[in-house]
Amino acid sequence: MVEVALSARSLTKVYGGRRGQAQVNALNDVSLDLERGRTLGIVGESGCGKSTLARLLVGLEAPTSGSLAIDGQAVAMNERGARGSLARKIQLVFQDPFSSLDPRMTVEKALGEVLRVHDLHTDATDTRIGELLAMVGLTARFAARYPHELSGGQAQRVAVARALAVEPEILVLDEPTSALDVSVRAEIINLLVRIQDELGLSYLFISHDLSMVRHISDDIAVMYLGRVVESGRFDQVFVTPLHPYTSALADAIPVPDPEHERSRKAAGVSTVVVQGVAVSAGCPYAPRCALVQDRCRQTLPVLEEKADGHRVACFVALEAEG
Ligand SMILES: Nc1ncnc2c1ncn2[C@@H]1O[C@H](COP(=O)(O)OP(=O)(O)O)[C@@H](O)[C@H]1O
Ligand code: SF4
Ligand SMILES: [Mg+2]
Repeated sequence: MVEVALSARSLTKVYGGRRGQAQVNALNDVSLDLERGRTLGIVGESGCGKSTLARLLVGLEAPTSGSLAIDGQAVAMNERGARGSLARKIQLVFQDPFSSLDPRMTVEKALGEVLRVHDLHTDATDTRIGELLAMVGLTARFAARYPHELSGGQAQRVAVARALAVEPEILVLDEPTSALDVSVRAEIINLLVRIQDELGLSYLFISHDLSMVRHISDDIAVMYLGRVVESGRFDQVFVTPLHPYTSALADAIPVPDPEHERSRKAAGVSTVVVQGVAVSAGCPYAPRCALVQDRCRQTLPVLEEKADGHRVACFVALEAEG
């Protein structure tokens, strides 16, 4: 039986709207399940709400509405600090490792601080710090270094070690390689895969780039303007994308299968990328969609299952044969 590590239901986050501020619907009715030991990739262009989702999941912010369960236990999301022991089970790794590390703290101090706060391995702190560094592929000599003495890749390894120090079950990785040199991105991905295997962790891996999540994701959710527009097993979604937006994302990556490429071109899918425009009613993708119909501008398509676990929020895709 499939065990669900994390389950979000109808998460919604509205920013602003008070004292004449513009209202931003950063996240709208997002539901997702992360299965234990697997990686759920979250992909979508900049501004679609990925980091907002990450902050809600780890409790850095409270949602406007919606609910969350970790290991089947409901998480209290609206009171600060109310997460209790569940808080430790989920940790966030940010895009920019330097912004998440205190420039005045050595690596040893930063990791020691986490162990102390959580009352973990307090009788053998140095040994544990050595183990954590080894886990992320760093030797013990890195313990004495300050963040400015680390490369981007090394700093991200330290940030991962600090998240692991808490002994979590789930890591939320918010574009963990986007701020790094292209040359070290694959190293960090490989490291994350190895750690996941060793520790049996569940990952939520966020990226604006479908080609980045393809090497790590078992499952995927595609976001557009604060909503999940398609979800399923990675292979289902990548090889047979149903939503026109997912097709456009997949088209931006070289596809080795020419037959597949031909059928997609025949479907008249637009790959033109236009800036996102907020729409008040109907499908959020309508202003960019090559397949748009009148009803798309009036009614919001909801995420529905098309085939065995493959869901899409698009009228045309849901009605198409096959
Ligand atoms: N604290 C905030 N106040 C107001 N608007 C915000 C805030 N945080 C994010 N937003 C807005 O919410 C939307 C989603 O942002 P974000 O979650 O950072 O997207 P992503 O991580 O996918 O780039 C954007 O329009 C962004 O400007
Ligand atoms: S519902 Fe209509 S506008 Fe939205 S993606 Fe589907 S065809 Fe395009
Ligand atoms: Mg972001």
